[in-house]
Parts: sequence; structure tokens; C-alpha cells
Amino acid sequence: MDPANHGASAVQPIRWHGDSVEFLDQRLLPRELSYVTCRNADEVARAIRDMVVRGAPAIGCAAAFGVVLDHGSPHSYEVLAASRPTAVNLFWALGRMRAAKDLRAEAEKIFAEDLAANRRMGDLGAELIPERARVMTHCNAGALATAGYGTALGVIRSSKSKHISVIASETRPYLQGARLTAWEMVQEGIPVTLITDNMAGHLMSRGEVDVVVVGADRIAANGDTANKIGTYPLAVLASRHGIPFYVAAPSSTFDLDIASGRDIPIEERPEAEVLGYRETRWAPDGVKVRNPAFDVTPAGLITAIVCEKGIARPPTRESIAALLR
Ligand code: MRU
Repeated sequence: MDPANHGASAVQPIRWHGDSVEFLDQRLLPRELSYVTCRNADEVARAIRDMVVRGAPAIGCAAAFGVVLDHGSPHSYEVLAASRPTAVNLFWALGRMRAAKDLRAEAEKIFAEDLAANRRMGDLGAELIPERARVMTHCNAGALATAGYGTALGVIRSSKSKHISVIASETRPYLQGARLTAWEMVQEGIPVTLITDNMAGHLMSRGEVDVVVVGADRIAANGDTANKIGTYPLAVLASRHGIPFYVAAPSSTFDLDIASGRDIPIEERPEAEVLGYRETRWAPDGVKVRNPAFDVTPAGLITAIVCEKGIARPPTRESIAALLR
């Protein structure tokens, strides 16, 4: 078996073959399981931009393989860096590739390290999850969004023996919760209940949520965390209701060059994603649209950040610096 594929969990979002890389086409899930093959950096960049492969650690791994496929050409770095702006894992992976002597070995290492980090985060994070907890999560921070196992869903997977259940928010407009998280949990045999995003406050107010666990796309030095749009309101609601709000992310998601969340670049995605879904359009012509793909949750609303190196509780400039040292 190829080393980059060794030890991955049942869901394999990325399959590396040395002269090509395959991505499980996440646009089609859960209706259809098919792979898109990329043979150069342009094709990998397109797959990232078009959401064939998505999730912060997964796009970092994808970019690393894209560089290998183009033998480290300056063009490969340029086109991959321009694919999506928010998840810092992409730029972190490109930085590692730039510094590497053996590109293929480095990309395979990035992949293997991500998988190991997720398993470690799962073990650490599971200690925060009570027996029989009803765990709310947002977007998809699962095996699909990483090299395998997942960050937030890794914590959830590692808590399976505690008889937990999951509440997955749909995650408008791209439906990563409804399509991807719900699918992963069904595959895993973890009870999962799907809600639309606007139902979270109601469930929390009725005492039906014990803990919230989400992933991250970029964490500033002070702990402010960019994640899928809709994460911030969940954190506000969790705070209002005294519910612990945890972020699970590998060290590759921290950006210590950015002092606070204000400076995190937020991707704006196409209008069409808000005007309708796939072939169906429900909004009238002439309406204006906003489609920021991420929001920033201030560190003060985050109970703890779990990473493979430990737990920053509460996340502050100091606790994060100590964790990543
Ligand atoms: O736009 P996406 O689907 O790439 O956004 C993904 C998220 O926001 C995830 O929560 C984040 O990348 C963490 S994935 C382990």
C-alpha cells in the first residue's frame, strides 16, 4: 500500500499514487461516491477551488501533493496559493514544501502527520466529552476534511464508547453538515440528528445540547478562530446557555503571524450558492447576495482549543504560545 494511504480511516478523501492524486468528490456526496483524478498542480488547485476536496487539513495535504506532481515548479506554488484564502493549512503546507529537499517524502509526511495528529486530538479531546453527551457540531471537520479520522469528528469518534450522540447542523449554504457529517456519522454507527442552522438556539434553550465541538480553518495568536460561517453564532448561543464550546485543530491550523481574528482573510464564495442549490434556484433576479464562507469566533467564547500537542484552556496568547512551543 502506498505510504500516504496507510492507516487512513475507512473514509479516504485523498488517495495518492505517486504520479497522480485522487480526491473523493465531496460535491456529490452522499448520493455518489466517485473520485476525481488530478495529474498536475493546476488540476489540484481547481479541485480545491471547486470544493472537490475541502476542509483545512485536507486542502493542505492536497496542495502538497499538487506541488509534487509539478516537480516543485514556481507555477505550482502560485496556482495552489491562489485556490482558497482562509485555511492557513494550505499556506503552511506550501511553506513546508518550499523548504523540503525531497518533495514526495515531505508531502507523504504532511499527510501521515495529519492522520496521527487527528488520532492524538481524538484521544485528548475525548477526555472533555461526558458520558452520553449530546454533541453539537457544525460543518464537516471529519475524515473528509483531513487526511483521515477528523478533528472535531475525530474527538467524536474517540468518544464513541461513551454512548454519545451527535447533532449536526445543516451548514448553509454548502450543506457540509447535512451531506458530509451526517454521512460520516451514519457510516461510523454514531447516532446523529440533523437540524437546520436556525434550530440550534431552540435546542440549546431546551437543554438538549451538552457540548459543542467544531474544527477550525485558521487560529490567530490570541485564539480567535475562523471556521465555517455559522460557527460564531453557535459560540454566542453556547455561551448564553453555559454550554462548553470546544475547537479541535492541529498545530498546522494556528497562524501566529496573525495577532487577532480581525486580520484573517475571509473567502467570499459565488452568489449562486446562496441563490439556490445545484439546479434549483429559489431567490428572485435582482437580489443582492453576500456569501462569506467563514466567520471568526472570538477566543473569549471558546472554552478550550484541542490540538495534538495538548489543550489550551482557556485559549489565550499565552496558553497558545506555551502549547505550540
Ligand atoms: O469551506 P469548507 O468546507 O472547506 O470549510 C470547512 C470548515 O470550515 C471546517 O470546519 C474546517 O476546515 C475544519 S476541517 C477539519
